[in-house]
Amino acid sequence: MGQQPVYDTRNVMDGRDLLRSLAPRSVAAVFYDPQYRAGLDQLSYGNEGERQKGRAKLPSMSDDMIVEFMEEIQRVLRPSGHLFLWMDKFSLWSAHWHRWVPEVSSLALVDGMIWDKDRIGMGKRTRCQYEAMAILQRGPRRAGGVWTDHRIADVWRGKPDRKRHAHAKPLDLIQRLILATTKPGDLVVDPAAGGYAVMEAARATRRRFIGCDLK
Ligand SMILES: C[S@@+](CC[C@H](N)C(=O)[O-])C[C@H]1O[C@@H](n2cnc3c(N)ncnc32)[C@H](O)[C@@H]1O
Repeated sequence: MGQQPVYDTRNVMDGRDLLRSLAPRSVAAVFYDPQYRAGLDQLSYGNEGERQKGRAKLPSMSDDMIVEFMEEIQRVLRPSGHLFLWMDKFSLWSAHWHRWVPEVSSLALVDGMIWDKDRIGMGKRTRCQYEAMAILQRGPRRAGGVWTDHRIADVWRGKPDRKRHAHAKPLDLIQRLILATTKPGDLVVDPAAGGYAVMEAARATRRRFIGCDLK
């Protein structure tokens, strides 16, 4: 048997193994922020460029690998549980992220959000200021009784906390989404946790957390 992840701590392991260790239908919400290079490749920033060094050093996930994550995510999500799937604008606008959804899928797109990072980034044409999040739900699809906060706008504004991680996502938004879709004691998972904002948000809201990163 492989390594068993521990609750509410930083586990060093492959996120697919972590997901495989979880019981089916046991998870209320998953946050998944794949290390995907579409944006950087599109912008032709690879390993060159000082500003990109921190990002390029992080191991990239192939489409096949992301599908493996997604297959496990849909297995472990409980009925009507949510997946919050982060992506860059190239994955969004090219619909590339559709390739990540398993062929036979119980996951359906139910909403989407934009994170306005409130600072201008890079770009050969327009300069990027936002990231996107697809919100998917395992069947049965429903909002009533499952999504309880109806005051979250679909554009969230706030600067990234780069001290936490090169790709840190906004802690306050994550906390709000956890509160909206789960109850105290529910299990929240992040299988590629980076700076562990999801763990911090789960702690603050008294949810259980399981997550990992490769280091
Ligand atoms: C985009 S970052 C996540 C950032 C995170 N959402 C945050 O707010 O800090 C993706 C992370 O996935 C990790 N990663 C890459 N391949 C992985 C794998 N097979 N299993 C687990 N984590 C992996 C990388 O090390 C990186 O920290």
